[in-house]
Amino acid sequence: MFNENTIQKFQSLETPFYYYNLDLLQKTIEAIKQANKKNYHIHYALKANANPKILNLIKEAGFGADCVSGNEVKRAVEIGFKSSDIVFAGVGKSDKEINFALDNSIFCFNVESIHELQVLNELAKNKNVKANIALRINPNVDAHTHKYITTGLEENKFGINPYEFEQVFEEIKKSAHLNFIGLHFHIGSQIQDLSAFKNLCLRVNEINKHFIQQGFFPQHLNLGGGLGVNYTEPDTHAIVDFESYFNVFRDFLETQTEQHIHFELGRCIVAQCGSLISRVLYIKKGINTNFAILDAGMTELLRPALYQAFHKIENLSNPNGKTEKYDVVGPICESSDCFGKALMLPEMQRGNLIAIRSAGAYGEVMSSRYNLRDEVVAVF
Ligand code: LLP
Repeated sequence: MFNENTIQKFQSLETPFYYYNLDLLQKTIEAIKQANKKNYHIHYALKANANPKILNLIKEAGFGADCVSGNEVKRAVEIGFKSSDIVFAGVGKSDKEINFALDNSIFCFNVESIHELQVLNELAKNKNVKANIALRINPNVDAHTHKYITTGLEENKFGINPYEFEQVFEEIKKSAHLNFIGLHFHIGSQIQDLSAFKNLCLRVNEINKHFIQQGFFPQHLNLGGGLGVNYTEPDTHAIVDFESYFNVFRDFLETQTEQHIHFELGRCIVAQCGSLISRVLYIKKGINTNFAILDAGMTELLRPALYQAFHKIENLSNPNGKTEKYDVVGPICESSDCFGKALMLPEMQRGNLIAIRSAGAYGEVMSSRYNLRDEVVAVF
């Protein structure tokens, strides 16, 4: 929802651009803090949005950082996240990235394979340091989300599988430069059915017990992120029900008092505060539909093309006009460059301002310069 002043401001700006409502972001952060009654450690997943202004607000809130590349670790350090609050995950960390993270004494490496344990031990040995590690476990829990953003099934490339545990214990015992501190799980993203998190808790309980029995005490349990947002009603559900989410873990996770619980939330913190603002360039009359051709495309927001994701589209210049059927498309030379098909929207005309909502997560960060497009800008 945009007020008159904001729309007025948009009128004077060149499109396309990302618009972020920092007030909503602040309210979302407050809602998380309110709901977090058990003192869980919250790490913000930078991959969702690494815009410095957004990161600053999140850092000020006292959240840590969850990174998946050396450059994300670098960005987190530059913004001022404490090294002791930075975790680093990813199946393919390069030596350069690992060395950078070791030099910055980050809190923890979430290790995804036995081979990575060996390489990390070697690199830590070269620097004569000890790396804190959490093992990313593949719990084989179905997140019931889009297959491209499901990560916790045996068929996925992520994490260590239970049949490898014996070998992992041996490897850790002989790795003098690794310090085992915990377990890490992440089953997928845009999860709206909370029962997936209940199933995750039940698996974590078993795995946690097994590790303790084997003499490997996980001081830290990191449950990952994945909490979904409402893409169809971004205004009525601007802030996720964080209380119900945390309650699942309160009710189903069995932990020892000395164990710390961590989360890595991305989308549910930043999705609703961002919109991609664009203008209509052309209207083309089709046979069964009309094409509204925008000046923003898959280069600015890839989600619809890549995951057939739905983002609500609003005509800010003619919100109450009579509706017509449109395929809303971008200017890129790809048929998949389409934000929505056969949508009933208020009549569109050249120059109308269009908002593509809920684009604060995995929007700007996934933009590209394909077709040599200009780099997308952010407005606050
Ligand atoms: N932790 C790990 C290990 C992850 O892989 C992810 C996301 C997160 C935390 C944060 O998940 P979130 O709370 O944001 O769901 N580009 C896709 C989403 C990819 C998510 C990748 N991993 C999209 O646009 O839907």
